[in-house]
Amino acid sequence: MAAPFTLSPLPYEENALAPVISGKTIGFHYHKHHQTYVDTLNKLVEGTKYADMKLEEIVRATVKAIDENEKKIFNNAGQVWNHDFYWQSLTPKKPKPGGDLKKAIERDFGTVDTLIEELAKTGKEQFGSGWAWLVSKDGKLSVDKTSNAVDPMAMGTNCLLTVDVWEHAYYLDYQNERPKYLEAVLSKLLNWDFAAQNFAKELSRQQSAATASRYEDAKSDVGKAYSRPQEIAEAKDLSLQQKVELLKQWEIDLRGLMVASDENMPSTAPGQTAELLRGVRSQLTRLGAPEHEPAAVNKAGG
Ligand code: FE2
Repeated sequence: MAAPFTLSPLPYEENALAPVISGKTIGFHYHKHHQTYVDTLNKLVEGTKYADMKLEEIVRATVKAIDENEKKIFNNAGQVWNHDFYWQSLTPKKPKPGGDLKKAIERDFGTVDTLIEELAKTGKEQFGSGWAWLVSKDGKLSVDKTSNAVDPMAMGTNCLLTVDVWEHAYYLDYQNERPKYLEAVLSKLLNWDFAAQNFAKELSRQQSAATASRYEDAKSDVGKAYSRPQEIAEAKDLSLQQKVELLKQWEIDLRGLMVASDENMPSTAPGQTAELLRGVRSQLTRLGAPEHEPAAVNKAGG
């Protein structure tokens, strides 16, 4: 069976980050260290359920492993994921934070420089091998540090950027001076475009969750979430299919209410219900779904 994991291509030439990180450091780091994690992971997962899983799934599934073999799988899978993320976190292109990311940085840190200072401090304080991270949780940015192969993603936190603070990341260029490496990398190489993409993914997930929640509210109590049929037809956060489904459900409910209102719901004014039903039908027509009778009734009638 072919080895399931491969070394991801570097997003730039090996010497593209020089002089901040030399081509020699990148060469060793990528071809020796990163490659070894990939090769070891492939050997460890052979014949196990992990051979068919995605890298992220393995990391999440093994982060709290107790079994020695699974711990090894976690260490190597985590390091493959972390290095893939690290290479993308750096770029020689010198982008600047913009848009939603810039607003969030200013809201949560004050300035980009303050954020960089905090990341540098966090990376410096990480005792022994590990990683410094810019992360977002529920749309709020913060910095974090992890030891060895651990990453915030394994615990369900959205990662925006990382810096490798294992000695192999800087020893050839900076010897034991991790703060100098951090200062240079953080001020000159951070890929803010990559961070913005990762932040946008979280914002989009948040939006989808909010829409799903609103949609569920609307399904359980149409009147509460959307007071008028027109609001559903014009809702920007619903798909056409969701709008039609909601309006059709409302139509069925109103039809039931019309029938029941005489005896069971004396407080409901039949005139208002009929008017609302006309409104629902008019919006269904507007959306191109003017099927006003439930299928069973059509069948029985025809
Ligand atoms: Fe590394």
